[in-house]
Amino acid sequence: MNENHVRRPVTVTGEDWFEVARTLDISDETVVRDFLADNPAFGADLVIPKRVTIETIFGCNARCGMCVIDQPTERIKGVMPMAQFTGIIDKLAPYRDRIEMMDFFALGEPLIDSLLFDRIRYAKARGFRRLAFATNAHLLTKAKRKALLESGIDTVIFSIDGITKATHESIRERVNFDKVMENVQAVIRERDAGDFKTRFVVRFVRQARNRHEWDEYKAFWSSRISPGRNDVVTSYDMHTWGGQVANKDEVIGGDQQRDEEIERLPCHHVFDKLTILADGSIPLCSEDILEPAYGFGLIGDQDPIQAFNSARLRAMRRLHLAGRKTLLKGCSECTLLYSEPRRGSD
Ligand SMILES: C[S@@+](CC[C@H](N)C(=O)[O-])C[C@H]1O[C@@H](n2cnc3c(N)ncnc32)[C@H](O)[C@@H]1O
Ligand code: SF4
Repeated sequence: MNENHVRRPVTVTGEDWFEVARTLDISDETVVRDFLADNPAFGADLVIPKRVTIETIFGCNARCGMCVIDQPTERIKGVMPMAQFTGIIDKLAPYRDRIEMMDFFALGEPLIDSLLFDRIRYAKARGFRRLAFATNAHLLTKAKRKALLESGIDTVIFSIDGITKATHESIRERVNFDKVMENVQAVIRERDAGDFKTRFVVRFVRQARNRHEWDEYKAFWSSRISPGRNDVVTSYDMHTWGGQVANKDEVIGGDQQRDEEIERLPCHHVFDKLTILADGSIPLCSEDILEPAYGFGLIGDQDPIQAFNSARLRAMRRLHLAGRKTLLKGCSECTLLYSEPRRGSD
């Protein structure tokens, strides 16, 4: 990689970004006008997230090579207290019709959280829709499978990264492939037999180590799931966690692949997704979760929607609208907008 790449932006981290955002005059930027014309809702006074992610546990039984969980961090491993969780859900309840989906995972393994299914039931009872979590499925015992199906969770994503034991275990360290295959096929059978409404997504993070297995993987899992129940087998490209686990240029296919339009495109994640981590901290987005770099503080007693509309977060959005997101190191190294169009079953 060329470290002095001409398009590499100035890096702004921590407190500096706010100063930069304040001093930017973006009123004449065509990018702002065009973006607002295409996305009138973003001009609204109060931005309501379409999607909310609540990390109920920070901590994992696995150590996947492409995951940021094992990188050094000051963030303390642990579980979100139930009272904090219910407080967040209660404060979000007035907005439930605008919140289209809610995820209960960020950086950790949800099945370690003994309160997971109580939380799902609580959120369901408050009227939230399209509840989901992802799991490595290693701990999906018979008792957990029963609790999962009875909880009414709408979607469960099984993170399986190979169709052979050697490949899957080389990527997902500390996870036993045979156990995962057995657990996932068992829960599919149990769901079908009991006619439970949960849909399953079998998901493959495409990377150099497993790319060659995708066709066989897709054929195998397609024969196990039920499209009639909205199950899918899908894949997407590995991303960099804002540059924390991999080099952007390598991930997107070489340093000539940066696309000016994508580099200037405001990222929808800072407008449509609110993430709250297990310790109550609020990151910029789901890539900024090892240890939030942009400091939106702790949820504490704050109203989550007010936090999502704080002056700091609004200033950050202005940077994006101005086509200047690459001033932020995490955004500059992020590959999500490159990989999103390539997500899917092909
Ligand atoms: C961080 S995990 C947390 C949930 C659970 N432990 C799991 O593995 O499904 C959430 C999702 O991120 C995916 N993931 C981890 N590192 C990734 C990377 N570098 N690029 C893309 N997806 C990644 C995992 O495969 C998983 O589907
Ligand atoms: S199982 Fe999930 S959280 Fe755990 S290391 Fe792997 S990707 Fe990260």
